[in-house]
Amino acid sequence: MVERKSIAGKASYRESKSEDRASIRGLQAAVYTNAVAGVSEALISGPADTLSLVAELDGEIVGHILLTPVNGPERALALAPHAILAAWRDMQIGTELVRHAIRLARERGWRCVFVFGQPDYYCRFGFKSHTADGAQIAWQGPRFLALELEADALRGWSGPLEYPEAYKAMASAIHK
Ligand SMILES: CC(C)(COP(=O)(O)OP(=O)(O)OC[C@H]1O[C@@H](n2cnc3c(N)ncnc32)[C@H](O)[C@@H]1OP(=O)(O)O)[C@@H](O)C(=O)NCCC(=O)NCCS
Repeated sequence: MVERKSIAGKASYRESKSEDRASIRGLQAAVYTNAVAGVSEALISGPADTLSLVAELDGEIVGHILLTPVNGPERALALAPHAILAAWRDMQIGTELVRHAIRLARERGWRCVFVFGQPDYYCRFGFKSHTADGAQIAWQGPRFLALELEADALRGWSGPLEYPEAYKAMASAIHK
């Protein structure tokens, strides 16, 4: 187990570049579906402040995470998809990728992040279901979580939360 976990330290975590697009597409298709891969590619090419990070190991892209601006509370992001190639799971690479993404989002002045995911996994980063309670969205529920990057960024907020139109096309495939 020690050796498996040390692999995450050998990987590098960085923003994706245009030349990574084919690898990201292949990774998202392998983990999810071709449709999800297409949508995530469209989202990467969306607003310039979209955050797209990869985990790279020995020149191979083994993980990808996307944080897309959403309309609702001020400076809010949605995290999805988040995917690690099956052969490289349970080595803390996904954890490191989220940590790097959160750090970068905070540096860029984002105030909060929403995710639909496993609470047992995302709670390690501080995501909580009750923090997301104010969001009016079709996939509201115990697996809809939020993280405040700035203290009290979501305190007292409630209202509609709008994801990009493209995201809705992949929601059913990734909300499992
Ligand atoms: C979820 C995913 C991104 C995690 O990445 P990873 O690199 O395998 O995870 P890490 O090695 O960082 O973390 C492993 C830990 O997470 C736990 N874990 C992994 N997947 C989990 C899940 N779906 N639910 C709850 N816990 C999970 C493991 O039990 C392990 O726990 P430990 O740290 O206490 O030993 C990866 O498994 C994946 O790509 N899954 C398929 C796509 C997916 O479900 N994406 C998330 C939806 S937004």
